[in-house]
Amino acid sequence: MTFRFPARWPEGDPGLNPLSRALERRREAGLPVLDLTVSNPTKCGLRFPGDWTALLGGRAVESYDPDPRGGAAARAAIAGYYGDRQGADAVDPADVFLTAGTSEGYSHLFKLLCAPGDHALIPRPSYPLLETLAELESITLGTYDLVPDATDAETGTPWRLDRAGLETALTPRTRIVFAVHPGNPTGSLLAADDAAWMLDLAERRGLAVVMDEVFADYTSGEKPAPLLRSSGPLVFTLNGLSKLLGLPQLKLAWIHVAGGQEDKEKAKRHLEWICDAYLSVGAAPQAACAGLLRRRAEFQGPIRERLESNRATLREFAAGHAALQPLWPQGGWCVPVRCAGIVEDGMDDEAFAIRLLDTEGVHAQPGYFFDFDEEDVIVLSLLPDPEIFREALERVVRRLG
Ligand SMILES: Cc1ncc(COP(=O)(O)O)c(C=O)c1O
Repeated sequence: MTFRFPARWPEGDPGLNPLSRALERRREAGLPVLDLTVSNPTKCGLRFPGDWTALLGGRAVESYDPDPRGGAAARAAIAGYYGDRQGADAVDPADVFLTAGTSEGYSHLFKLLCAPGDHALIPRPSYPLLETLAELESITLGTYDLVPDATDAETGTPWRLDRAGLETALTPRTRIVFAVHPGNPTGSLLAADDAAWMLDLAERRGLAVVMDEVFADYTSGEKPAPLLRSSGPLVFTLNGLSKLLGLPQLKLAWIHVAGGQEDKEKAKRHLEWICDAYLSVGAAPQAACAGLLRRRAEFQGPIRERLESNRATLREFAAGHAALQPLWPQGGWCVPVRCAGIVEDGMDDEAFAIRLLDTEGVHAQPGYFFDFDEEDVIVLSLLPDPEIFREALERVVRRLG
């Protein structure tokens, strides 16, 4: 008798989407690709300090002293990082829980806050991984819209919450409202009044807020995105070394818990229990955490330089080509770009992305991957090597005519 897999696994091979098929064809034919989708900082020629891996070794990793919350030294270092960012005592190390990546943090929070079949709200446009993570925990998702205001090359694009839409999207089973700050791919910061409104809504409706701030240190202004504080509704903040230092291979992230005393203590107790079931963060990244965070300028410097350089190139191309219309980000590592005229030419974002790849060898992501309504948006990473970025943009504008 064959095994009956749960309904979440569709019958048959779902196969590749048309853009991935086009990419595979191109690679099989041995043709070059200018990749504007790269988001892995270890794969785009960034120069990090050569000696950092030495921090992973030493006597600290010879013994196993598991603490479900993560080691005290690493948690103190994370609190120290928030102290530098937000002012002394911004974060108590006792409110920090280590996880093996932010994705695991999301999964722990679904387990902590939801029963199977419960509901959570995510922003739209947004990062597609959230749907997968929710599905794996048997949580259903709804969306609320982010709506762009006027874009500005210097300061970015404020995207506002559709507050009425968000309230309408709540169901009796909604447990969590997620925010991504700065957003991916919008690069938008949650405006202070929208954040206050979200906290007030959470308080009124008995919801928890989860704030993904993995790009907080990469804003186009002088300051990092502010940490959302709460002494009322539960607020969980996710961050980690993957984006903060550009070191996704370390698999070290964290959850910070805030909220009213009673709920917060309960949340911490249950979260500790979940973390204890996995004990998933390795000793080596924990041992390195304090040293790496102390030296964060050496990692963030090359990333910031790269983002600024590619942003300047994009600004130059957008100034010379009216059809190329970036929705300038306020932060983060990518930029959505409207490609005016493609719909009139009979294409949507996916058809245009395939055309770009087939005819110009440029790989960009279509906006529908991120649930954009508009059919003329592609999303570009700002991390590629600057020469590749420039060459790819030349080809994009050539295709746009
Ligand atoms: C907004 C956002 N959150 C979380 C993640 C996952 O990060 P991690 O590598 O810590 O799992 C990503 C990865 O791209 C992301 O873009």
